[in-house]
Parts: sequence; structure tokens; C-alpha cells
Amino acid sequence: MNYDLLLKQLEQILAPETYLISRMANASAFLYENMSDLNWVGFYIVHDGVLKVGPFQGKVACSDIGLGKGVCGYTWQTGTTTVVDDVHQFAGHIACDSASQSEVVIPIFRDGKMIAELDVDSPRLARFSKEDVAFLEQCASLI
Ligand code: SME
Repeated sequence: MNYDLLLKQLEQILAPETYLISRMANASAFLYENMSDLNWVGFYIVHDGVLKVGPFQGKVACSDIGLGKGVCGYTWQTGTTTVVDDVHQFAGHIACDSASQSEVVIPIFRDGKMIAELDVDSPRLARFSKEDVAFLEQCASLI
């Protein structure tokens, strides 16, 4: 994948838009379209003490994920990227789409506080290489 080019394209797509929800909507559509073997790409937003599902591409997803619950809640707790090569081996994984086999969740910070997460699921085991994760982290930081 030419991740440098994709990053530049995403930057251009986001440039005219300042509203966070719209930025997330277009970022999720862009990633879903340009990365192979994904079945869910989207955002969870911290709201009223839980993670609420935000803009995404893929099947209907669960909302209201608490701190420490599932891969998303775990990432909220640790404040660092979580890469899961096999979701069935992750205790407490929340299965929104039974097709998901691997997953990466990246926290998004504003003023030192985690405000949202980028969550990406794949129907392929160990889908996300170090390079893929680095790219997704850069995409998340653009939001
Ligand atoms: N699998 C996540 C839940 C969100 S779905 O993947 C869209 C988790 O375990 O937190």
C-alpha cells in the first residue's frame, strides 16, 4: 500500500471540514474503501462516561461500551493502541460482527484527554502489520 499517498489524500479530504463528526464520517468511508480485508471501520466517542458508536462503515455496531469492556474499553483504560491478531483469544472481546477475526483500536486525544477511538476490524486473522498500524495511527491523529 502506498500509505504516504493515502495519508495525503485523507488530509486533503479533511482539510475543508472542521466539524468532528463529518471528519470522522469521511475518514471511515475513505479507509473502508482503500484498505483491503476490512469489515468494519469507525469511531467510538467518549460521551456521558461511556463509548458511544460514532460514524462508521460496516454492520450495525454496539454502543455504550464501558471503561475496561472489550477491546475498545481496554484501549480507553490503557490509553495506547491495541492490536488483536485473533479476537477469539482476547478475553471480553465484544463481537458486533461475527465475521471479525482481528482488530486494531487507536485512542484519539485532545488536550491530553482521550475523546474518541478509531476501531478497525478485519475478517482475516492477524490482518494488521506494524506498517498498517502506523498508518492507522497517523490517520487517527489527523482527526
Ligand atoms: N470489538 C469491539 C467492539 C466494537 S466492534 O468491533 C465494532 C470491542 O471488543 O470492544
